[in-house]
Amino acid sequence: MSLRIRMVASRGLMEHDSRLPMCGIVGYIGSSEAAPILLDGLRRLEYRGYDSAGIAAANGSSVEIRKAVGRIQNLAHLIGEQPVHGSRGISHTRWATHGGVTGENAHPHTDQSGRLVLVHNGVIENYQKLREEMENEGHVFRSETDTEVLAHLIGRHLAQLGDASADTLVEAVRLALREIQGTYGIAVMHSDIPDLLLGARRGSPLVLGVGRGENFLASDVAALVNHTRDVVYLKDFEIVLLRPDSFHIQSLAGDGADYEISTVDFDAEEASKGDYPHFMLKEIYEQASTVRDAMRGRLSLEEATAKLGGVNMTPTQLREVERIVLIGCGTAYHAALVGEYLMESLACLPTEVEVASEFRYRNTPMGKYTLTFVISQSGETADTLAALRESQRKGHRTLGICNNVASTIARESDGGVYMHAGPEIGVAATKSFTSQVTILTLLSLLMGRIRNLSSSDGLRIIEELEKLPDKVAQVLAMNSHLPEVAARYANAHGMLFMGRQFQYPVALEAALKLKEISYMFCSGYPSAELKHGVIALINSDMPSVFIAPNDALFEKNASNIQEVRARKGPVIGVGTEGHRALEKITDDTLWVPAAPDFLMPVLTVIPLQLLAYHIAVARGCDVDKPRNLAKSVTVE
Ligand code: M6R
Repeated sequence: MSLRIRMVASRGLMEHDSRLPMCGIVGYIGSSEAAPILLDGLRRLEYRGYDSAGIAAANGSSVEIRKAVGRIQNLAHLIGEQPVHGSRGISHTRWATHGGVTGENAHPHTDQSGRLVLVHNGVIENYQKLREEMENEGHVFRSETDTEVLAHLIGRHLAQLGDASADTLVEAVRLALREIQGTYGIAVMHSDIPDLLLGARRGSPLVLGVGRGENFLASDVAALVNHTRDVVYLKDFEIVLLRPDSFHIQSLAGDGADYEISTVDFDAEEASKGDYPHFMLKEIYEQASTVRDAMRGRLSLEEATAKLGGVNMTPTQLREVERIVLIGCGTAYHAALVGEYLMESLACLPTEVEVASEFRYRNTPMGKYTLTFVISQSGETADTLAALRESQRKGHRTLGICNNVASTIARESDGGVYMHAGPEIGVAATKSFTSQVTILTLLSLLMGRIRNLSSSDGLRIIEELEKLPDKVAQVLAMNSHLPEVAARYANAHGMLFMGRQFQYPVALEAALKLKEISYMFCSGYPSAELKHGVIALINSDMPSVFIAPNDALFEKNASNIQEVRARKGPVIGVGTEGHRALEKITDDTLWVPAAPDFLMPVLTVIPLQLLAYHIAVARGCDVDKPRNLAKSVTVE
């Protein structure tokens, strides 16, 4: 095995269209049965898509393929009935892009000879033209996919090169990849070339897992950690050849490539449900410790500020920052909106929040002293990654707030802050939101302390931050009536969420949570927007949730609640424990402990996560894997 270890900076490698694919790939070559290893890996990648799945296993020169529509469980069931044997295999879980959710469109796909097998993440943009060309030559396609076209293209080159061998296969792959436009992460094997798997990437993550007498390939380290912690993150335009005892990485041009073997720190136990019925519920209940972990070692009483080493900027550089831009998608975008209120109120720093998919194509005017943060739990969201690159391309220091330390965003950003929240498996983001908001509070404290906050202000903020994990634990314990409240509203057709100031982003987040897992139409608004249109929706069938802690704006919220009640709209209030004034004007009330307004979002969001969870369970929805979604949105 050739091991050349060198640190290689990965910035600036991907300058092309980043319409990254979803889907997950797992490959294995060694001496064990491949199918159980591949199935286990696919289960861990199911967050990348769960429309269909398939496996190809090679036993000597015979390759067998099994595919099933739907969850990995369906594929496992099929393999239970019709086993596949062999110690070499490739597999795939699909989130449909080209072609419907059918067995024919499920991967793996084969070439015209049926002996070359391929799985693919990505989009082959010129597949129609290539398909027509090959159909004119007599190729027969069985699916509607762009992937099958790539399999045929490699097979066509291989046939032209002569006998199938490792050398001709590599050359055929190289020639085919030069012909295609688009993105790919692929795993390939051939029935006539024993002891070889081949992988290549451009724009889709692919990780090599280095074992003893066995090697692995996957879209994400999560699929590998049960087998090895030694991994190589392949770079764009690299090809890897895997044999049971060795691997070889080369560039698409044919040159040897430098690589680094990294050791992955990942607790596979953390990724199990334990005694909880769903990952989402487990992750909601982890928040007292994940909020604590987001702050651990990052508060300095001595200096009355936050210490965020990963930001890697001197006080002078931080002092020069004139504007903050926060970028994210979905829940991360909502956390960024809380961050805007935090930065403005604690650090008096102009802050703008951008949805990543808009930022990447906008020409946002950004001055020299703009500091950008991209926020992403997975660190693989295509639009957020593209926004990171766009910001860097314009010369701005761009930092990441990520959970997945092995992610592309974590590797490509100019520094940043890890969330340390542990794996988040439920498609609905929960603990990542509270960790992101906690980190944004630390950042605001840091920026505030070198601007407008005195050391006694800083100490007061730290004191409150230190109490936060216990308050999170209290919220989790104090709303035992939540399942009954959820049952009362589970048959509603929709729900509105309202809040002001720090609670406005929480309203947006709560609406997203409920809609994505219950399929109820939900929307969030600043409370005062009610009168500008939303109120037309209010009647006795349209419940409203008001997030109205006992703060300076409570009376304003109370007036809005009365406006809803006057039109017979049911009202659920989320407020400060024991606040009778709220209880009196709502049909149901969920409580959080008292806290300063800048920390309230971390508390008020929790009963609303639980409300969404219990409503979705009552409606019989698949809470952890809602329809049409995937955990990590790696497609534009
Ligand atoms: O991994 P990221 O934080 O970048 O993901 C961003 C969104 O895709 C994600 O928050 C999504 O909106 C969740 N399903 C929301 O619960």
